[in-house]
Amino acid sequence: MSGIWGRVDEYIVETLFDKDVALSDALSANAAAGLRPIDVSAAQGKFLHLLVRMSGARRVLEVGTLGAYSTIWMAKALPDGGKVVTLEYDPHHAQVARQNIERAGLSSVIEVRVGAAAETLPILAAESQEPFDFVFIDADKPNNTTYLDWAIRLGRPGTVIVLDNVVRNGQLVNAASTDPNVKGSRGAFELIAASPRLSATALQTVGAKGYDGFAVMILD
Ligand code: SAH
Ligand code: DHB
Ligand code: MG
Repeated sequence: MSGIWGRVDEYIVETLFDKDVALSDALSANAAAGLRPIDVSAAQGKFLHLLVRMSGARRVLEVGTLGAYSTIWMAKALPDGGKVVTLEYDPHHAQVARQNIERAGLSSVIEVRVGAAAETLPILAAESQEPFDFVFIDADKPNNTTYLDWAIRLGRPGTVIVLDNVVRNGQLVNAASTDPNVKGSRGAFELIAASPRLSATALQTVGAKGYDGFAVMILD
């Protein structure tokens, strides 16, 4: 997809990345199971992996698992004893994800919880586990503000939050858009702007997945 952007992504992966069978097998299994190929790109997955390492995160929360491709990238960045909790609405996606995680040898590191995240996040919060050090939000975009609110509550000063798919082919700047996903991005930006504890930027991306972008923030 996307001509030169996709070819540059391929060059980045071929030149800089070690071959990782767990990750390529997960993509094959996702396709075989009929999951839509909306996982992060390899270049983005490695970027999440590096952010997890750079931030020294031990506990990662993900909202939106799909087949656990991004989940596995992040889990591989954790020190011994680290953990990823990933939340997925669709039981079929969760089943494929668990198989991919098992095949990657990461079943003791990654916990997949099934249900609408707006319902599983309060349950997670009620368990009052240790705070999450890193949160990746990549689920249904109209609920972005709900997920950001929970990320703040489940985090601690220094928690890094990444929010995927905020640029949406540039429609982010279309205030008149009626697209629920664009409204989800703009709502997230308004919440971030109004949150004194969040310091944020967003980066526009091109690549194998076309033109989009993600927001990155730190909780003070
Ligand atoms: N993070 C994945 C891609 C996630 S795609 C990766 O990069 O590999 C978005 C996922 O969010 C889909 O699997 C979809 O089923 C899930 N989702 C949609 N609505 C949800 C909700 N309300 N709660 C939790 N997950 C949801
Ligand atoms: C879609 C969802 C994503 O999280 C993504 O990164 C790309 C596309 C989608 O629902 O179309
Ligand atoms: Mg996404």
